[in-house]
Amino acid sequence: MEDQRGEETHILTIPFPAQGHINPMLQLSKRLASKGLKVTLVTAESNPISIQGENLTSSIKIESIPDGFSVDAGVNVRNFDEYIERFKVVFPQNLAKLIKKHEVSGYPVKFIVYDSVIPWMLDVVRGFGLDGAPFFTQAWAVNAIYYHFHQGTLKVPSEGGSLVSLPSMPPLGINDLPSFICDKTGAYPSLLNVILNWMATRFPIKTIGPVIPSIYLDKRLPNDNDYGLSLFKPKSETCKTWLDSKEINSVIYVSFGSLSALGEEQMEELAYGLKRSNNFFLWVVRESETEKLPKNFYEETSKKGLVVSWSPQLEVLAHKSVGCFMTHCGWNSTLEALSLGVPMVAMPQWTDQTTNAKYVEDVWQVGVRVRVNEKGIVTREEIEICIKEVMEGERSKNIRRNSEKWKESAKEAVNDGGSSDENLEEFVTQLLSS
Ligand code: UDX
Repeated sequence: MEDQRGEETHILTIPFPAQGHINPMLQLSKRLASKGLKVTLVTAESNPISIQGENLTSSIKIESIPDGFSVDAGVNVRNFDEYIERFKVVFPQNLAKLIKKHEVSGYPVKFIVYDSVIPWMLDVVRGFGLDGAPFFTQAWAVNAIYYHFHQGTLKVPSEGGSLVSLPSMPPLGINDLPSFICDKTGAYPSLLNVILNWMATRFPIKTIGPVIPSIYLDKRLPNDNDYGLSLFKPKSETCKTWLDSKEINSVIYVSFGSLSALGEEQMEELAYGLKRSNNFFLWVVRESETEKLPKNFYEETSKKGLVVSWSPQLEVLAHKSVGCFMTHCGWNSTLEALSLGVPMVAMPQWTDQTTNAKYVEDVWQVGVRVRVNEKGIVTREEIEICIKEVMEGERSKNIRRNSEKWKESAKEAVNDGGSSDENLEEFVTQLLSS
């Protein structure tokens, strides 16, 4: 078939309804639209999404369909297995109605891109007589580890045991492997199973990341929050005004993403570690976490720190006053920091974050990883040491040099003719000629 771009080629993109999955799918959608496709991103109605930025609505369309839960009962606050069970029944029924509606409206859907953590969507899509492609929102190193685990070519080492070797990867200890395969009693065993079974089928693969808006890579900041779709309300003005008043590279930005919850003792150690480091800090503490902050912490640190319930993270990371990102190493946060050249203190919590942290410290060498004590806690002293190492220590020069290097590579990949851009172009061409 001839390559027919433009309004007549309509594709749907379906993220898994959690913040760390919505963000990259939204960016992918915008990049597909920039290649001349008509793109509709389909969200679950129960996600309390706030949409910002006019650019967003002009380049792609967003439609919400019922997922079996009432508005505001987001996936973050309910039992995962229970959610998926109902989502699996209700969402496809309403997706069928949406596809019909577009058939009648003269913009029939040609293809569907769906999140890889809902791999059963491919059968649903094929049931509608369409085809689809999964979009992975985690690092390929992590996918490869899952694949080897499934094939039996990875034997998980015991605590303190030997390192495992996998092709093209650094030697990995138990703490470098995704927590899902080390702790089979984890919260999402069913999710692991669907991913593993899917991996075994091995589709052709294209790497199109990082899906960071190129406007940020050039540090030409837009006026709006370019991520556009947020499950939380960012305190944009408060962050910007505060950051504007600080010197270059003087602030530590601290965030643990949309799902991680620290224990009370860990929260206290982190709070006092930040205080001891004596740097300025901007700390995202989600509303559900604020009760864990030590008493009087706001008063004690008001001259040094700003605590907000959600930030416009891309704008924060792109701000010149931010000199270090203390992160849980969610894949989006990791890629955002890597792409914007911000050195990291890696404090992984679970899932793929442990492997991402390994890459941050040992492979890309753009940060340091905290060490956990025998009680499973990262102490305030450890946090202070790690921050100092990134902000001013001997290693910091090398870390900053590497961070700059990776930032340039990200820009090169995403810009016209770069590897990410070419792979995306190839995907669109293939899609149009199928
Ligand atoms: C999760 C997993 O942790 C991650 O490893 C997986 O690959 C995807 O899903 P999450 O824990 O929320 O996501 O972390 P992360 O992947 O970093 O995504 C968080 C997103 O929210 C980022 O895009 C970040 O920019 C955004 N964010 C975070 C904000 O916009 N404001 C904030 O205050 C915090």
